[in-house]
Amino acid sequence: MADHALETKDITKTYQINAGMFRGKKALKAVNGVSLSIPKGSILGLVGESGCGKTTIAKMILGLERKTGGQLYIGGKNIDAMGHKQIAKIIQPVFQDPYSSLNPRKSISTIISLPLRAQGLSKGTADLEKKVDEIMEIVGLATRLKHNYPNQLSGGQRQRVAVARALIMRPEIVLCDEPTSALDVSVQAQILNMLMDLRNRLNLTYLFISHDLAVVEHIATHVAVMYLGRIVERGKARELFDNPSHPYTQALLASVLTPDPNMGLPEIHLGIEYPNPIDPPSGCAFHPRCVKKQAKCAVVAPEPMVKSGKLVECHYPDNF
Ligand SMILES: Nc1ncnc2c1ncn2[C@@H]1O[C@H](COP(=O)(O)OP(=O)(O)OP(=O)(O)O)[C@@H](O)[C@H]1O
Ligand SMILES: [Mg+2]
Repeated sequence: MADHALETKDITKTYQINAGMFRGKKALKAVNGVSLSIPKGSILGLVGESGCGKTTIAKMILGLERKTGGQLYIGGKNIDAMGHKQIAKIIQPVFQDPYSSLNPRKSISTIISLPLRAQGLSKGTADLEKKVDEIMEIVGLATRLKHNYPNQLSGGQRQRVAVARALIMRPEIVLCDEPTSALDVSVQAQILNMLMDLRNRLNLTYLFISHDLAVVEHIATHVAVMYLGRIVERGKARELFDNPSHPYTQALLASVLTPDPNMGLPEIHLGIEYPNPIDPPSGCAFHPRCVKKQAKCAVVAPEPMVKSGKLVECHYPDNF
């Protein structure tokens, strides 16, 4: 465990939601038994369609949402025994939308120094100024911008501010939830390159959440593919991209090859729409959309299979 910056064991999150008038509550398994581990210094890309449970995993890791079951270790410590401040020292988030995650009424320097002040680690104004200058320089922001406000910055600059705020306490792990989805393609690449550069310079470990496999391919060392609350395939990035085993991973990869990345998943590959998690399909949750399904798939849920570090949850995987 010591060589893993982050580890989850069979974590679950079940929401009780109103099923409609007179129907009482129904269980929605947003995360349904997820085991992940991120070796120190690596970048785990977590991919899957909207609603599969990515952000719910992020919230449990950040201690913003209580898990329903399972175990979670951050820096080798059980999260159940950690307070918010302790978690925040080790892991810091960068979220999708730098408009809504940065307070519009605070100056850039106030925003960036917030984690230090929240931890009571400020040693006076001069010290804060120095640390803000340092981190702004590291993320490639001109220090003259520190007296500006978020609306005076470009989208890319704002996301650099969010990264600076995440890094000012020098955490071990950065959790990025769709950090570039709201940005123009050209700016996306700059932010991704900066994140990779920072990982080397500051020895960081990333959990990098995205619905975009092309983005993950650019940055991740390891990949986990999620479908309806479960990890259906995971392994080293290169192997997974070269030799995808799960039909869902194959379909996601095929969609990356479409000429217009904004087109989303092509109909031909996944036919019917994403299932409702309140009423999941029988057997393998992916079977209604799977081009390779057989009779067994509608009846029996596949168990995860692991071989030389790679995991697949499918009755009939390829290359496995
Ligand atoms: N507080 C909540 N109460 C009830 N259901 C929730 C809650 N938060 C999330 N869900 C449900 O849990 C499932 C997973 O949501 P989550 O936000 O984790 O998905 P996601 O993979 O991050 O999607 P996206 O790519 O759109 O961000 C969804 O079906 C969502 O409707
Ligand atoms: Mg999300």
